[in-house]
Amino acid sequence: MVLKICISSFLFLTCFACSSNGTIQRTDGDETETPVSAKELYFEYCSACHGSDGKLGAAGAKDLTKSTLLKAEVESRIEKGKNGMPPMKELLGSKKNITAVTEYVLRMR
Ligand code: HEC
Repeated sequence: MVLKICISSFLFLTCFACSSNGTIQRTDGDETETPVSAKELYFEYCSACHGSDGKLGAAGAKDLTKSTLLKAEVESRIEKGKNGMPPMKELLGSKKNITAVTEYVLRMR
């Protein structure tokens, strides 16, 4: 009985220690970065269809690493969308964010 309590409180403490460590590290990392990075925007709005590496192709999305569109075309595709690709202009909020995501996508090639 006593042993059982020891084991469970040990497990509880270990878990607690792990998760609080993880949280502290992540917060530190975030706070030193610029408010919203292109990578964060991409993961928030694009990765569901394009995947974290651009290759997923869910919902008929194109492989971004194989795309041959010019920068201006990529930018307008992101702003206006096409077929299964929804327009992202409103979601991204500003021209600065659109340009940042465009450059992020171009670097995937
Ligand atoms: C709901 C799913 C979906 C989301 C979310 C999405 N896309 Fe797409 N995307 C597509 C589809 C589908 C296509 C193919 C459109 C077509 O040409 O028929 C596409 C095409 C593209 C293309 C053109 C590739 C080429 O060579 O033709 C780019 C660039 C692109 N997406 C970037 C983005 C970016 C950046 C985001 C986030 C801001 C995003 N997409 C979010 C579905 C999505």
